[in-house]
Amino acid sequence: MKGNDIREAYLSFFENKGHLRLDSFSLIPKDDPSLLLIGAGMAPLKPYFTGKVEPPCHRITTSQKCIRTGDIENVGRTARHHTFFEMLGNFSFGDYFKKEAITWAWEFLTEVVKLDKERLYVTIYPDDQEAHDYWHKMIGLPENHIYPLADNFWAIGQGPCGPDSEIFYDQGEEFGTDPANQMGGDGDRFLEIWNLVFSQFDQQKDGSFIPLAKKNIDTGAGLERMAAVLQGKKNNFETDLFFPIMEEASRLSHVNYGTSASGDVALKVIADHSRAITNMISDGILPSNEGRGYVLRRVLRRAVRFGKLLGIQDPFLGQMIDTVVEMMKPAYPELIEKQAFIKKIAGVEEARFQSTLNAGTDLLSELMEDAKKKHQTMLAGSSVFKLYDTYGFPWELTEEIAQEQGLTIDKEGFAASMEEQRERARNARAKVAMKVATPDTTKLNVSELTVEDKDGETEIVLLGKDGKEIASAADGEEVTVILRNNPFHAEGGGQVGDTGRLIGQSGVITVENCRKLPDGIAYLVGNVSEGVVEAGSTVRAEVDRERRHALARNHTGTHLLQAALKRVLGNTVNQAGSLVLPDRLRFDFTWPEAISSRQLEEVERLVNDEILTG
Ligand code: ALA
Repeated sequence: MKGNDIREAYLSFFENKGHLRLDSFSLIPKDDPSLLLIGAGMAPLKPYFTGKVEPPCHRITTSQKCIRTGDIENVGRTARHHTFFEMLGNFSFGDYFKKEAITWAWEFLTEVVKLDKERLYVTIYPDDQEAHDYWHKMIGLPENHIYPLADNFWAIGQGPCGPDSEIFYDQGEEFGTDPANQMGGDGDRFLEIWNLVFSQFDQQKDGSFIPLAKKNIDTGAGLERMAAVLQGKKNNFETDLFFPIMEEASRLSHVNYGTSASGDVALKVIADHSRAITNMISDGILPSNEGRGYVLRRVLRRAVRFGKLLGIQDPFLGQMIDTVVEMMKPAYPELIEKQAFIKKIAGVEEARFQSTLNAGTDLLSELMEDAKKKHQTMLAGSSVFKLYDTYGFPWELTEEIAQEQGLTIDKEGFAASMEEQRERARNARAKVAMKVATPDTTKLNVSELTVEDKDGETEIVLLGKDGKEIASAADGEEVTVILRNNPFHAEGGGQVGDTGRLIGQSGVITVENCRKLPDGIAYLVGNVSEGVVEAGSTVRAEVDRERRHALARNHTGTHLLQAALKRVLGNTVNQAGSLVLPDRLRFDFTWPEAISSRQLEEVERLVNDEILTG
């Protein structure tokens, strides 16, 4: 059975059991700050499990796109570690429970995809007599195919969780007979193919468990593992879900699968990561140095490095993405429409890293040689930081390369260098944001530039860097922007300018200031914080409204203060200057003598009265 057919068979099987089939949710969690990326089929459905939101149906089935990068260094080195994978799942929200979940899992495995019953084993939570009895008495699974396992409890951190029962497929003794080859062990003999979670608790932020009002079912079956079993392959990479990508990488590198261990690792890494890159960008994630964007950057740069190890000289991710889209489009037709965009974003990131990869690799080799000569086992944090900052090596990548040579890295030292750099950048940016100049604006048609009250979509009419007009800028670059319709207030009269964001399809600019030219044209000063931003592109302009309100309050505060001073001291009080910030204000005036505490109290009272009655 082909991967695409297995997915379809699963979803239609559960549709026939009264489940509503939903499309995969985005890899970006919605309204869930506890998660960076979706890593399980149940993750986007959390509110249905907890009862916060009523589901469209009490039975749902999905094939959910997932990303897990916790053990990314294992990807390519084992038969079944992946960053991107699809989780087949059937879910019950206060509807059916253990009996049906077990019955249907068994029916699908033994009657639909027709696995050999003799090869199926399960684990259960030790106290779960009920699950044991369903497996043994109802299904007829012999006792020696049922293993109690103390860690059979599945949780996602914050959210629905409970004891589980896992189903394993025995791939045979040729996959290993040592103790690692037991259920729950790291060996390859017993492959976990399905996890049935009897979801009964809601884990809180503080780690405590609250019983859920209704009992639920959350199951997860890895499509890639299922494909390996059904296609009789030794590892997931040899299934039709990966192999064509490896073949494409072989074609470009002239390194054939099965000829060397290191070549095979590289081909597998590229296959895995190409799927992750394609789907992450398709779901709207853009490369950056933080959060999800950093995960993407790490995966992408790791793929580029392994391409280099295979001897691929030219950019190659575009071809990999084409192959992934071709393979996945039957299930994810939106990939076709986004293909050009995905290739563009990946291409920019690939080119940026390729330009420094050789020099960075040479430097890293020198550092490792040097450390070994000095009998050191750890690379200095400042060196790891230099590789990150100057050569674009995510520290995890440096760590992985160092590990290959038996070395570790000084993570604390790295973090300290990073913090110093952030501090320097903050200071420099604050200065830059005050001074930086926009390119020549004389060719702009001023009558087309408007000032807006509200946030909204608009066009970047002029993009600048170091006072010169540019066509595009990538993350990390300091830029100036002139918008066709500008909702940002410029600095002036002692008040600092607005901050906010410009959010485009391919990138985001963090706006740090807004200034006005003598002729009244406002320009924004900021830095690209994600992806790539192009002149002429459409962006959504968003002002930090809370900060704006705080500024407005403090601005009004200066007027109230001036009025109160005039009442207490007399009309001759004249403003000499003022500063309006979001968190404080300063009002300067000249007065020939010290002001008494009684006068100050009076001023304070007048201002407070005005605020309270105003
Ligand atoms: N949520 C369960 C898992 O991810 C099914 O294994």
